[in-house]
Amino acid sequence: MDCKILLLVTFCIISKLACADICELSALFANCSKRGFSEIPQNLPEYITQLELSENVITKIGSKAFKRYDKLLVLHLANNNISILDRDAFEGLYELKVLSLTGNRLDHTRYPNNVFRPLKNIHELYLNRNIRSPPPFEQEKTCEYSDKAFSWMVNLKILSIDLCGSSNFGIGFLKLTHLQNLTFDNCLACNLTRKTFNNFRNSNVTVLNLSRCELYEMSESIDAGILYPFSNVTSLDLSNSYFSLKHALQLLLPFRNKKMDMINFHRVSRNTRSSPENPFKIVITSEMMQFLRTICVKTLIMSYNGIVDAKPNSLFVFDHPECFENIIISANSFWLENTLQYIEVLKLSSTMINLRLFDYSYVPA
Ligand SMILES: *[C@@H]1O[C@H](CO)[C@@H](O)[C@H](O)[C@H]1NC(C)=O
Ligand SMILES: *[C@@H]1O[C@H](CO)[C@@H](O)[C@H](O)[C@H]1NC(C)=O
Ligand SMILES: *[C@@H]1O[C@H](CO)[C@@H](O)[C@H](O)[C@H]1NC(C)=O
Ligand SMILES: *[C@@H]1O[C@H](CO)[C@@H](O)[C@H](O)[C@H]1NC(C)=O
Ligand SMILES: *[C@@H]1O[C@H](CO)[C@@H](O)[C@H](O)[C@H]1NC(C)=O
Ligand SMILES: *[C@@H]1O[C@H](CO)[C@@H](O)[C@H](O)[C@H]1NC(C)=O
Ligand SMILES: *[C@@H]1O[C@H](CO)[C@@H](O)[C@H](O)[C@H]1NC(C)=O
Repeated sequence: MDCKILLLVTFCIISKLACADICELSALFANCSKRGFSEIPQNLPEYITQLELSENVITKIGSKAFKRYDKLLVLHLANNNISILDRDAFEGLYELKVLSLTGNRLDHTRYPNNVFRPLKNIHELYLNRNIRSPPPFEQEKTCEYSDKAFSWMVNLKILSIDLCGSSNFGIGFLKLTHLQNLTFDNCLACNLTRKTFNNFRNSNVTVLNLSRCELYEMSESIDAGILYPFSNVTSLDLSNSYFSLKHALQLLLPFRNKKMDMINFHRVSRNTRSSPENPFKIVITSEMMQFLRTICVKTLIMSYNGIVDAKPNSLFVFDHPECFENIIISANSFWLENTLQYIEVLKLSSTMINLRLFDYSYVPA
């Protein structure tokens, strides 16, 4: 027998742990990550407050699987292969603050109505990366999220979840009044409308992340009111998405004349599969800037968007230049060619009194 195993066996006998499972225990934390578990281990100390079960091969969470561990505050189940949650799966987890189910195979339209009912105190829930994007994209039917199941988590502050091609968030989401950070990942928006996010309107989301959103249908216009339910957002991330800069700028309608910390529009003009030529030579116009111009924003990122030119009274004219701390417009393709642009930039520079970083590097020919 290998010396290490012998030592482990000896240790197990002495400490009376059922070490067949070989979790690593330190104080109140049980690390059972990457141990090949196919079920929730039932032989860990009852007093643990943190249980790490990521990267195992669990496919199902059965009835009362965690009842024994009712002191748990943090439970990680990321990157297993979970597709089935019993309706009593989380029974007993009344203290739980953080639950991660990232990277499993859950169906957001089929949660048992009461499955999250015990989680009255939960603050952070990660349900992202459970649906996969199957290219080529097939027009799927509307995804009706199991809103009743979500409605129990009245203290939820942070939610990360997939966005289906066509999503319907029911009235159960109106109960999430404490929601602050909302991330859609994977984000497969196909048909965003003014209705899509309407039932988030009672929450107070300040950080909204639609980074890497894939848009499969790029129509001429986009409904500028899509983000109205999120009008308290101060940090908006649309980076690396397929919105196109023109549409992304339209989506700023609800934030007119508001104060924001960050607008991240880095590479919002990724090519679409259907039209690889998707507008990657963009001339900024005054109309495109009509909403952004009015926002008092600290950090503005518009890098890598194929901007080739800016019309007068557009990219360099802002109502609140004093708000800027960082501006990043690198990796575009424009020069300050005409005198008018040059004058606008000079004027802007003299009014951006709080500016710390202006990144205008990399101007490809
Ligand atoms: C948990 O165990 C895994 C596998 O041994 C290890 O990679 C990981 O760093 C551990 N995590 C913590 C927080 O100790
Ligand atoms: C995950 O579960 C699905 C069925 O839900 C199965 O087809 C697949 O082989 C499983 N994958 C792994 C890596 O176990
Ligand atoms: C929520 O978003 C804010 C702003 O980006 C960030 O500072 C904070 O860490 C986020 N919270 C979590 C738990 O991700
Ligand atoms: C988008 O959704 C709206 C309302 O839900 C519907 O009327 C419209 O036909 C849909 N458009 C596409 C392209 O699916
Ligand atoms: C936005 O914040 C204000 C002030 O904190 C609050 O009264 C209002 O209900 C919030 N609105 C939304 C949509 O969260
Ligand atoms: C909304 O969130 C902001 C920032 O976290 C906070 O200042 C404000 O009081 C909140 N408003 C409500 C109604 O909860
Ligand atoms: C948004 O989510 C992406 C991953 O999906 C992450 O890399 C990025 O940091 C997030 N943005 C913010 C502002 O938290």
